[in-house]
Amino acid sequence: MIGVAAETMATTELLPAGDFTTLPELPAEVFTAPLQRPPHVGEDWLEPTQRDYGADEHAIWDDLYARQMDVLPGRAASAFLAGTQKLALGRGGVPEFARLSKELGALTGWSIVPVPMLIPDHVFFWHLANRRFPAGNFIRTRETFDYIEEPDVFHDVFGHVPMLADRVYADYMQAYGRAGWKAMRYNRLKALGALYWYTVEFGLIMEGDKLRAYGAGILSGPAEAVFAIEAQSPNRIFLNVDRVMRTDYVIDDLQPTYFVIESLDDLYHQTVDRDFDRLYRSLNAGFTYANTAVIDIDNVLHRGSQEYFLRGGRASSANPI
Ligand code: PHE
Ligand code: FE
Repeated sequence: MIGVAAETMATTELLPAGDFTTLPELPAEVFTAPLQRPPHVGEDWLEPTQRDYGADEHAIWDDLYARQMDVLPGRAASAFLAGTQKLALGRGGVPEFARLSKELGALTGWSIVPVPMLIPDHVFFWHLANRRFPAGNFIRTRETFDYIEEPDVFHDVFGHVPMLADRVYADYMQAYGRAGWKAMRYNRLKALGALYWYTVEFGLIMEGDKLRAYGAGILSGPAEAVFAIEAQSPNRIFLNVDRVMRTDYVIDDLQPTYFVIESLDDLYHQTVDRDFDRLYRSLNAGFTYANTAVIDIDNVLHRGSQEYFLRGGRASSANPI
């Protein structure tokens, strides 16, 4: 049903009218998760001000920062490490978004805006389309230091923002935001979400003959940074956009498969230059490939043993080997 309806729609109708200066109206047929908007935020879901963090909360940032900086050299992408330097994310305490936005704005035109929690897809896309990155307005506690379910300011700012200081990546993220409307029209948000997952959150990149991580989900935690680069368990497969958008993903454990780009230009051209209308029309509603699968068309860098997952993963406290 969706396929037929989508195919008769002209491309121009697939984009919201105008230039994304105001929040485009959600197409009536689009299903969105029923998130309860807190009364103090408007339709843009933006907090009026950034939270005033206490000394203990700033100390949590500092400790998280120090822990990551111990594991990331030799594992994080050079663009990421350069970003942490350019933006001086280690100057002490939770970064002030106004200052950060000014410095990042001078580099790539992006700003960082505070949001109370996960926000609806179309609002998220709209902010990205305007080169605004929504970041959580809270930080994890000592009790949840190692593992949190909802992205906090450390994941959002430390994990995502350094890459936004790279020009090519900055353009990719804006293009991704703009692309959200087309995916909504085709009812293919899951597929576009898989692309985000396997690039923005868990992407790996080749730098010469060295494997490095650029995904925020890897870079904001110590265990996955080591696992993604060094472990025998996970598959490492070169990115193929059509394949990735058909691949299932888990959000509550280490990844069984990582997708590898050859450069940030490679990521940009594979996605931005690709006509997703044709792709969306050819996709099934659900995912085709399990997240552990290696398929015949894959360009495989490392075929994983899947040992960690065979032992039961996080649920059975398996060693991340
Ligand atoms: N090329 C995609 C399209 O036609 C747009 C896109 C760009 C999607 C970047 C994702 C990331 O819809
Ligand atoms: Fe994230």
